[in-house]
Amino acid sequence: MSGQQPAARTFPEAFLWGAATSAYQIEGCLHADGRGPSVWDEFARRPGAIEGGGTAEIACDSYRRWADDVELVAGLGLNAYRFSVGWSRIVPDGRGCVEARGLDHYERFVDALLARGVAPVLTLNHWDMPQALMDDGGWAARSTVEAFACYAEAVADRLADRVEWWITQNEPWIIALLGYQIGLHAPGVRDLEASLAAGHHVLLGHGAAADTLRGRPGVRVGAALNLLPCVPATDSEADRAATVGSDGYVNRWYLDPLLRGGYPADMRAHWERALGHPLDVIRDGDEALIAGRSDFLGVNYYTRRVMVAAEPGPDRPFPWQVVPPQGEVRRTDEGTEIHPDGLRDLLVRLHREYGGVPLLVSENGGVFGDAPTHDGQVHDVRRIGFLHEHLRAVHEALESGADVRGYCHWSLLDNFEWALGYRPRFGLVHVHYPTGERTVKDSGHFYAEVARSGVLPS
Ligand code: NOJ
Repeated sequence: MSGQQPAARTFPEAFLWGAATSAYQIEGCLHADGRGPSVWDEFARRPGAIEGGGTAEIACDSYRRWADDVELVAGLGLNAYRFSVGWSRIVPDGRGCVEARGLDHYERFVDALLARGVAPVLTLNHWDMPQALMDDGGWAARSTVEAFACYAEAVADRLADRVEWWITQNEPWIIALLGYQIGLHAPGVRDLEASLAAGHHVLLGHGAAADTLRGRPGVRVGAALNLLPCVPATDSEADRAATVGSDGYVNRWYLDPLLRGGYPADMRAHWERALGHPLDVIRDGDEALIAGRSDFLGVNYYTRRVMVAAEPGPDRPFPWQVVPPQGEVRRTDEGTEIHPDGLRDLLVRLHREYGGVPLLVSENGGVFGDAPTHDGQVHDVRRIGFLHEHLRAVHEALESGADVRGYCHWSLLDNFEWALGYRPRFGLVHVHYPTGERTVKDSGHFYAEVARSGVLPS
């Protein structure tokens, strides 16, 4: 009936309403409690590496203000909080001695979350690898897999009796691409072979950490992938082939080994053509060490990719290219296309093509630079719209049968956005960096109401 309001949408009772952060982006206190240097400490010192020359020395000061952050999360009525453990706080030298003070910190933090009825969603590797592991090549070296498994075991020994949701790796493709191929992120390597090795070893690391974790009662393990639905710019056969290729590169290269038992053959052929030799970094038996070790999949969704066919060139190893979307395009303040339907389609696709795997939206968010106004409040109406549309998309995916267990907004707090420094603001909560003062934005109040009621208003 025309003119009728769309109905409010009710989410499942057990749905996880969360917000997400990572250790390096919020904690500061880089020298506290025996923490060792991480690859990001080192990288941030390179001239020009971080926009505005910022460092994460203070960030949101969350290592000291952890109790305030727990109160913020609980005050927003959230029942889940995704955070990461700082790897170099636990194993400062990369291998060997475990720093008990680091574990004590996260134990206090987890206990405080649980006491407030908030389920911890714990990420083990959100990019802050101990710098010492770079002496052997970091993720490009196979030996890092074992170091990661030992670290995972140390954290699991302390926390697996009370943390249910474990994310082993965050965004393997971004680690491989930005960290080891184009060098825009730590450790700043620019080497296609190293990038491919890094991506593979990150997945092996997932398998090894999952082996440590999955024997423990009540634990669920997954990896968080940044997935980008790919669509052809035109209906031409060439653009459709480019789209399949791009999907192989960004999405299936990680999804298939985790959830289907092996790397996709078409993409493997693309890689071998680009490199000019067989992919021997993937050894016999490796795929069996990655597969069948995920209880759920973490989905980080920000936008989509529109694809055309293109000739490979010096900066383009594959025969495809991303182009700007046509027509009226809505964008965040960082220029990212806002495309909520892509989240729905992605969740439904994952459900259908990957055996009904349980899904957790482990990140979704956008940059909106709103600052406090004269009334001291942050009226970030565009983030409210963004949240509303993406939660609508999640609900539509649920209606289509996708097994979506929860949604974590990126981010709880404005924070250190890696190479972009402090300029992009992703938070539900505004942070005044000079003082660390937190102000819940209007979007935070809106999300709190949805989380408390479990209902997305029409
Ligand atoms: C992906 C990363 O996991 C997170 O660290 C980052 O801040 C957000 N996306 C936004 O770019």
